[in-house]
Amino acid sequence: MSFTVNKKNVLITGGCGFIGSHIVDWVVQNGAEKIVVIDDLSAGTDTRYLKNYIKEGTVEFFKKDIRNTLPDASEYKDIDIIFHFAAQPSVPISVKKPFMDFEINVSASMKILEAMRYNSIPYIVFAASGGTMYGERNEVMSEDSALRPISNYGAAKAAFEMYLSSYSHLYEIGSISLRFGNIFGPRSTHGVMYDFYMKLKKNSSELEILGNGKQLKSYLYITDLINALDLVVKKIQKGSFNPYNISTERLVSVKEIADMVVNAMGLKNVEYKYTGGERGWPGDVRKISLDTRKIRSLGWKPKVSIEDGVKKYVEFLEAMNDSI
Ligand SMILES: NC(=O)c1ccc[n+]([C@@H]2O[C@H](COP(=O)([O-])OP(=O)(O)OC[C@H]3O[C@@H](n4cnc5c(N)ncnc54)[C@H](O)[C@@H]3O)[C@@H](O)[C@H]2O)c1
Repeated sequence: MSFTVNKKNVLITGGCGFIGSHIVDWVVQNGAEKIVVIDDLSAGTDTRYLKNYIKEGTVEFFKKDIRNTLPDASEYKDIDIIFHFAAQPSVPISVKKPFMDFEINVSASMKILEAMRYNSIPYIVFAASGGTMYGERNEVMSEDSALRPISNYGAAKAAFEMYLSSYSHLYEIGSISLRFGNIFGPRSTHGVMYDFYMKLKKNSSELEILGNGKQLKSYLYITDLINALDLVVKKIQKGSFNPYNISTERLVSVKEIADMVVNAMGLKNVEYKYTGGERGWPGDVRKISLDTRKIRSLGWKPKVSIEDGVKKYVEFLEAMNDSI
C-alpha cells in the first residue's frame, strides 16, 4: 500500500528554511493531521513563511537546535514521518569548521534517528546531496555508484546516509534519501544565483565569479523537487532504505548562470571578474552529473526550464528587495 501524508502526523526539521518551508506548504495542502516544525533559525531564517499556519494552529513551531534535542521531547510524540531538512548547508563552512559540520549534519541527525527508535516513528525522508556525496567524477553517477566526497559537507551527508541504511534494516524504519543537485527558487537565500543577484544589486557594472566560471552542475527549480518528493514518499517502506538522485540532466556552467541572472535583472555590459582556478572554493566539485532514471521511472520529469526558473526567482528577489 502506498504511503501519503494525508491524516498523518508530520515533523519537519529545518521547516523555516528555503526547501523546508515549501515542504510545510506541501504537507498542509496534502491534509496532514498534525504538523510540527523544529528550526533554530540559525540560517538567518525566520518564521515568515509559517506565520499564518502558526497563528491558525495548523503548525506547531519549536525554536530548537537539533543538537540539543532529546528522544523523549514532546515534539516527537505520535509522529508518523519526519522530513529531516535542518542542516549546516555550506561546503565552505564545512571546510573551515569540520567538527561543527559533523555535529549538526551527522551527530545531531543521529539524535533524530534515536528519537525515531525511542518513539517508534516509522518513516523518515532525508535531504542528502547528489552534488557533493559522489565527489568529482567524469561518469554519470547512479544511486549505486560509490560515494567519494571531496568536501566535509559531502562526507557528512554520506556518513548519515549509512546510518539511515543500518537503522532501516535494524529497527524496521522506512527511509528515503533525496540526493538532489542545486535547488533554487523563491525563498532561497543562498547559492550561486542569490550570490550573483546580491553582488549585482550592490554594483551592476561588474560581477565577481568564483573560480573560472566553467564548473558544470545541474539546477532544479523548487516546485520540480516538491513534485519528485510527492512521488517518492508514496514508495516509502518499513525496513528499507531507498536513495533517489533528483536533478535535471542538463549541466549548466557558472558563467551561463551569471548570464541568466544578468538578463533576468535587465542589465547590460556587466564585466565579469573571475577569481581564477578550476574550483570556486576548496571542496567545490568542478563537474557532477546524476543519473535520474530511477526517479523518472516513477513518471517524474522537471517542468520548469532553468531560464524560466531564474526569471521567476529574480522576480521574487526583486519583490523581497522592494519590501525591505
Ligand atoms: N538548497 C540546495 O541546493 C541543497 C542542495 C542539496 C542539499 N540541500 C539540503 O537540503 C536541506 C535544506 O536546505 P536549504 O537550502 O533549504 O537550506 P536553508 O538554510 O534555507 O534551511 C535550513 C534550515 O535549517 C535550520 N537549521 C540549521 N541548523 C539547525 C540546527 N542545528 N537545528 C535546527 N535547525 C537548524 C536553519 O535555520 C534553516 O532554517 C539541507 O539539509 C541542505 O543540506 C540543499
